Amino acid sequence: MDIIIASDYEDLSDRAHRMVLTQMEEHTRTVLGLATGSTPEGLYERLVADHRGEEVDFSKTITFNLDEYVGLDPSHEQSYHYFMHEKLFDHVNINPSNIHLPNGQALNLTHECERYEAAIDRAGGIDLQVLGIGRDGHIGFNEPTTSLQSRTHIATLTPETVEDNARFFDSKEDVPRFAITMGIRTILDAQKCILMASGEHKAEAVRRAVEGPVTASVTASALQMHRNAIVLIDEAAASALERKDYYRWIQENKERLAGRL
Ligand code: F6R
Repeated sequence: MDIIIASDYEDLSDRAHRMVLTQMEEHTRTVLGLATGSTPEGLYERLVADHRGEEVDFSKTITFNLDEYVGLDPSHEQSYHYFMHEKLFDHVNINPSNIHLPNGQALNLTHECERYEAAIDRAGGIDLQVLGIGRDGHIGFNEPTTSLQSRTHIATLTPETVEDNARFFDSKEDVPRFAITMGIRTILDAQKCILMASGEHKAEAVRRAVEGPVTASVTASALQMHRNAIVLIDEAAASALERKDYYRWIQENKERLAGRL
């Protein structure tokens, strides 16, 4: 794992933006795995601004979102379909047929999970997966005790996640209890993963994911098994890390080596 500590949310979003841009510049046909939530909003704003300045071309980009609530219509303001269109897709030149999100309204949800997994395979797998982390250490909607070998499946949200996401709904009762989510194995199959976290409320989850044991109790810890995972966090999210100075030391020294790699 590469642990990169940014000074604040703006710096974090700038760095994530540069990583995604580099990926898109190096591979015109890029398969991006995307997350919703507050954390990647700064990244999406920057990609939209680039597109307005005609610096980035999404015409050959393919996207797969991590997850979608079960039962919400795509036109529902809190559906992840709606979020992604509002924050990114409606503002860039992505081909609508290249956009993929699980269908949380499918009549047969098990088939939908299999269909989604097969679509990722057909696209050749995910090149770069963007991730956020929940306070309980989840990535996607892979809540504690989800198998680290899981594929796309139906997840039951924990009460903690329902509470965290209630801020987007009229009331806690309106938050769906189920979601379709890529599994941990699906995420680990991506060529590269960037886990982003900002704020002190994420510090404990980040500490457990990075410095704790690999455990299904903190599904983000599975990224320790990924050969190309970057943990991109701001100072506040890094505040509980025991070896923070060492991670900084690694980054400083790597920057010196950069020209020779
Ligand atoms: C969203 C997702 C979730 C969020 C996580 C953090 O697609 O997969 O795992 O990334 O809950 O959410 P925020 O960024 O709102 O703190």
